[in-house]
Amino acid sequence: MNKKVIILIFLVIIVAILGIIVGVGLFGDNENVVEEPPQEEYVEQVEDDQTETQEQQNSTENENILIVYFSHTGNTEMVANFIHEAVGGDIVKLETQEPYTNNYNDLLDIAQEERNENARPALSTQIDNIDEYDTIFLGYPIWWSDMPMAIYTFLDEYDLSGKTIAPFTTSGGSGLSGTPNNIAQEEPNATVTEGLSIRDNNVENSQSQVNEWLSQIRF
Ligand SMILES: Cc1cc2nc3c(=O)[nH]c(=O)nc-3n(C[C@H](O)[C@H](O)[C@H](O)COP(=O)(O)O)c2cc1C
Repeated sequence: MNKKVIILIFLVIIVAILGIIVGVGLFGDNENVVEEPPQEEYVEQVEDDQTETQEQQNSTENENILIVYFSHTGNTEMVANFIHEAVGGDIVKLETQEPYTNNYNDLLDIAQEERNENARPALSTQIDNIDEYDTIFLGYPIWWSDMPMAIYTFLDEYDLSGKTIAPFTTSGGSGLSGTPNNIAQEEPNATVTEGLSIRDNNVENSQSQVNEWLSQIRF
């Protein structure tokens, strides 16, 4: 009889233990069920945040770049467009209030005179939102081993402090002619990157050279 009671008590204890184990298991499941929705919400929230961050990055990548250039016969403009295709952002052509002649010899004289006088030809192009840009790609042809004076007007009119300026040029062979240093002197609080120089007879085939330069200066 005593043995039967002991076995009974033993069985009751085992059943009780099993009951507790099963109970805890169920409770654990219930806990997961209860917590699942917040977890899903969290995942969705994280996904939303990631999408938003990605969108912000993309828009930042595109919106904080300005490509601004002067071009008389279209060479620098073509290079500007290659850069635009590669990096996006906004693109603006600088125009002078008084257009330059298409007579090459007369233009040579006018440009030389402007340079000798350290002239600042007035621009008809106005950029109202320059503060929004972090990086300015600045393009120009080489005129008399220097930038056209209209570029000096641009640098006088706009304070590019704190911005990165990436200079690019086209020329008959003079290269950059030290113009990045001139830009750095005009904009002492800007960072001027290594410049790009393309020969005027090679502009159409310059896309790979442009892209190489962009990756060198980390674009
Ligand atoms: C007024 C003037 C001066 C120039 N001076 C130089 C020069 O000093 N060195 C040079 O290599 N090319 C010189 N060139 C050639 C231009 O830099 C070259 O053709 C350039 O690609 C023109 O660019 P654009 O088509 O964007 O105006 C000069 C051209 C002009 C019209």
